[in-house]
Amino acid sequence: MLCFIRTLRPLTIYYYYKKDTKMSIITDYIEDNKGRFIDELIELLKIPSVSADSKYNADVLRTADAVKSYLEQAGADKVELLQTEGFPVVYGEKIIDASLPTVIVYGHYDVQPADPLNLWNSPPFEPVIKDGNIYARGAADDKGQFYMHVKAFELMNRTNTLACNIKFMIEGEEEVGSANLGPFLEKNKDRYKGDVILISDTSMIANDVPSLTVGLRGLSYVEVEVTGPNVDLHSGVYGGAVANPINVLCTMIASLHDENRHITIPGFYDNVIELTAEERAKMAEAPFSLDEYKKDLEVNDVLGEKGYSPVEHTSIRPTLDVNGIWGGYIGEGAKTVLPSKAYAKISMRLVPGQDPDEITELFSKHFKSIAPSSVKVEVRPHHGGKPVVTPTDTPEYKAAALAMKDAFGKDPIPQRGGGSIPIVALFEEVLGLKSVMMGFGLDSDAIHSPNEKYGIFNYLKGIETIPHFYRHYAELKK
Ligand code: BES
Ligand code: MN
Ligand code: MN
Repeated sequence: MLCFIRTLRPLTIYYYYKKDTKMSIITDYIEDNKGRFIDELIELLKIPSVSADSKYNADVLRTADAVKSYLEQAGADKVELLQTEGFPVVYGEKIIDASLPTVIVYGHYDVQPADPLNLWNSPPFEPVIKDGNIYARGAADDKGQFYMHVKAFELMNRTNTLACNIKFMIEGEEEVGSANLGPFLEKNKDRYKGDVILISDTSMIANDVPSLTVGLRGLSYVEVEVTGPNVDLHSGVYGGAVANPINVLCTMIASLHDENRHITIPGFYDNVIELTAEERAKMAEAPFSLDEYKKDLEVNDVLGEKGYSPVEHTSIRPTLDVNGIWGGYIGEGAKTVLPSKAYAKISMRLVPGQDPDEITELFSKHFKSIAPSSVKVEVRPHHGGKPVVTPTDTPEYKAAALAMKDAFGKDPIPQRGGGSIPIVALFEEVLGLKSVMMGFGLDSDAIHSPNEKYGIFNYLKGIETIPHFYRHYAELKK
């Protein structure tokens, strides 16, 4: 029976290319199976695959197993868990014809911690559907998004319309920096021979304003420790004479931006590639409402680097943010203490031209240089990642744009994303492959925040768009 279907493939593909037939093969299959597609995603969302917290190690591994069996059920061959120094990568493939292009699907099955739990309207790992959205940690980032690819693959496989070879790389450490994935790529270069990486782990402008992500920011992440006296002291007996490391840390952090919100670290902007006036004008054409933005976030105003718009602040400009700060007494009531230590976690988003190792070095040197001699400062680098920009004149970008046009009825707008996916730069360096970032989330999906959600519209629209990508990509690569 299987052989019989195989021999029919050219015929099926012929009919598939006929305009209306190709649409209805996809939409009919989705219509017939959408309940199950949603149920399966819900099962996946129930497993708390938090990679940052070792308490969840067994759950992260359980998620890898679940992804493995879902890939098998969808019809992938050679499905296996590939070991890394950390959590495994789920592999699966379907090689239909060596002369066809090979698409490598990247995604991540790990999720961010769900804290603070008390701010969730329903428990993060007990998914609920409300107003057309699935609420759960990982719904949009990235379980709901990578799982669209598993279901689109199932659709193409079952309807005999797969137009390219496919290989999956679903990893479990993206949310902690993918440190083990670089060495993994080096080791698995041969296995991951292909033509392009396809990723859904970003957002689009709005459900009626489709967009494709053509850039990601890089990241330099550090933790700083400021030490004053060798022990916590009475703030009345010693305060005023001995440096309070929290006071000092706050002064140091405050000095990292000037009155124009420029970052003051010497050399920080030296290699930043500025956009031309034309490029900035083009960017400004994308729809954006400052009023709605402020209303959504309940802020009276925005605050960003002088001379740039909020869209630019969150895409083409580098930033420095304190992600956490602690020290001293934070329990109930008051304790008059002059603490011995103060800490902060600081991240810098980087743009093309900036190298994360160099920026970490510049930060470290500067931060130590501004410390008064009354404290000791340590800077500990965490993970980092390089920024990326992807060209729009390639077969993969064109195929993605055509696919979005097919599914949304509108040309997508190219836009630079503000977040980071550290492995994307390495796909190019190690595998020599460009990435297509075709994400279907929305900025309002609250990824990394309480009440993360993913629209069922977005989930099903993604499943619909992906098969169009394969068909256009195969055509354009001929
Ligand atoms: N999917 C996000 C990245 C993203 C989100 C890019 C929205 C563009 C738009 C990814 O899972 C993520 O959160 N990355 C981390 C980096 C990592 C090193 C923890 C980030 O951007 O903070
Ligand atoms: Mn993600
Ligand atoms: Mn994330």
